[in-house]
Amino acid sequence: MQALLIRSCLFLRYPTPFQIWSGNNRSIFMKGEIINFFSDLALKNIGIVLGDKKAYLIETRLEELSKNLGLAGIDELYDKTKFSLNNKLLDQIIDALTTNETYFFRDKQQFDALEKYVITEIMERNKGNKRLRIWSAACSTGQEPYSIALLIYDRFPQLLNWELEIIGTDISKRVIEYAKQGAFSQIEVNRGLPARMLVRYFRQNGNRWIIDERIKRMVKFLRVNLLNDLSHLGRFDIIFCRYVLIYFTDSLKKNLVNRLERMLYPGGYLFFGASEIASHLSRTMIRRSFNGAICYQLAL
Ligand SMILES: C[S@@+](CC[C@H](N)C(=O)[O-])C[C@H]1O[C@@H](n2cnc3c(N)ncnc32)[C@H](O)[C@@H]1O
Repeated sequence: MQALLIRSCLFLRYPTPFQIWSGNNRSIFMKGEIINFFSDLALKNIGIVLGDKKAYLIETRLEELSKNLGLAGIDELYDKTKFSLNNKLLDQIIDALTTNETYFFRDKQQFDALEKYVITEIMERNKGNKRLRIWSAACSTGQEPYSIALLIYDRFPQLLNWELEIIGTDISKRVIEYAKQGAFSQIEVNRGLPARMLVRYFRQNGNRWIIDERIKRMVKFLRVNLLNDLSHLGRFDIIFCRYVLIYFTDSLKKNLVNRLERMLYPGGYLFFGASEIASHLSRTMIRRSFNGAICYQLAL
């Protein structure tokens, strides 16, 4: 019981009465300091909030990273980060602290909306310049932009003659490298990918499923931190920014949503995750509902 109480108090930013009674203040404060240090680092470099409630996440993920780096534990990782942080180590910490959950055709209704309404509408509007630009703004291991590419290849072959760009970006170096390979595990292809598409657009190589070169070529992957200036990416007809804002502070959410709006062409669409609450949108963004799939369109 005592061990349990110590553990639950360990990571609070301020000492609790129990910590003062425990007689083991030094290590408790030390652990708290380490957790606070890494949550500050995550906030500053990634924008994600890993407060006291996520202490277990910081501890387990960074313990694992320490092990992989041959360090004694999180204490040694803390010393290394505090006194000799370099880009490589920062990348490894970012990889460890980001949550990369994703799967093919996540929030299927949104992909149905894309197929039945959104792409068709944009094709009609852009038929003069024959240009379509789509951005998956926190694409993790690539299932999201590849789902868009599969949909287009399968349903809108005429777009293959257009100036079509699908860009997938993420802050994590590890997931971007993985996405670029276009090789997925059995578990990954079992999640969301229709069997028909697996058969048609993937080939098996050992325990990996390799995406067809024609689909792979449709997506360009880049490492981009959403906290940074994004203007080099240009403007888009469709932006997917799903399940990343949930990790950010409210002020960062507001700042990012406003910047994303400015990256849309007039009439362009912005998608958040289906279970995310959209906030901070300006009045120029019109809420659209397509058979229950919600997205936001920049006024024309
Ligand atoms: C939960 S995944 C969502 C993946 C995909 N959008 C989906 O909905 O399936 C969130 C992704 O956001 C990325 N991320 C977190 N903070 C970021 C930042 N500041 N800039 C860019 N990507 C970030 C993470 O690395 C992670 O891969």
